Amino acid sequence: MQEITNEASALEYIVHSIYEKSRIRLQDGKQSLIKARLGKRMRKTGYEKLSDYAEFLRTKAGDEEWTMVVDALTTNFTNFLREEDHFQFLVKHAIPSMLSPGQSRFQVWSAACSTGEEPYTIAFYLSEKFPLTEQWSWNITASDISTKVLAAARQAIYTQEKVETIPQDWRRRYLQMGQGEWEGHYRVKPAIAERVRFQQVNLIENYRHPEPFEVVFCRNVMIYFDRPTQEALVQRLCKFIKPGGYLLIGHSESLNGLKVPLRCLKPSIYQVS
Ligand SMILES: C[S@@+](CC[C@H](N)C(=O)[O-])C[C@H]1O[C@@H](n2cnc3c(N)ncnc32)[C@H](O)[C@@H]1O
Repeated sequence: MQEITNEASALEYIVHSIYEKSRIRLQDGKQSLIKARLGKRMRKTGYEKLSDYAEFLRTKAGDEEWTMVVDALTTNFTNFLREEDHFQFLVKHAIPSMLSPGQSRFQVWSAACSTGEEPYTIAFYLSEKFPLTEQWSWNITASDISTKVLAAARQAIYTQEKVETIPQDWRRRYLQMGQGEWEGHYRVKPAIAERVRFQQVNLIENYRHPEPFEVVFCRNVMIYFDRPTQEALVQRLCKFIKPGGYLLIGHSESLNGLKVPLRCLKPSIYQVS
């Protein structure tokens, strides 16, 4: 391993290691962003120079710090009802087409769920179409690599600004308005929140799940991966989807040219063949 002698070699080491750990390629030109985002961690761990901080990351004692580095360098932007046509497709077409007569149980996975807006939006839509009664038993697995976003997702508390994309009547049905010190915040009601199970999953590693899903959302994360990583990831995801089930990816992503057992129904909507 090369010696870390200055800021440039420290950056090179961090960019390379992040790629190894998450397959996220931090582009050239993002150096100032990386430095700004790691500044807080450096202050917290007591390092002034990036090269000293990178040296620390290289030691055994720095192992745990990598979780924080991944947290700091991943892009977590998300929103309630983001790319809304996918949720409509889910309840109008995908789930109904997968249900066999008498089947009342099904599962959806929100992979790379960030701070939870995506899985909770799925839960709102499913509750509308498949109400939380004894008849319907569905649940949502939601995962991300970042422990920081998962902690926020589990908390299920959002600012007024964040919930503005949710229609008024849904806000009344699915959210509780905070009071006192929580004024200006909303919490997803427990009856809905408990349908979502969060867990840490690094999508480039092997992981297990006891049962396949009817639908998997893997949106706006593949854009950070190179083509071979995307291909391997989608091949792996397909093993977790029931035959005839669906994979939804971000609107600006495409699986064109990848060797994967899927057929494209519409841009960003794929079905396992
Ligand atoms: C831009 S957010 C997308 C959130 C949501 N799916 C959406 O479309 O609004 C991308 C998320 O991918 C996560 N991520 C990045 N690399 C990952 C990996 N290797 N495994 C799992 N999650 C990863 C990040 O932590 C981040 O929360």
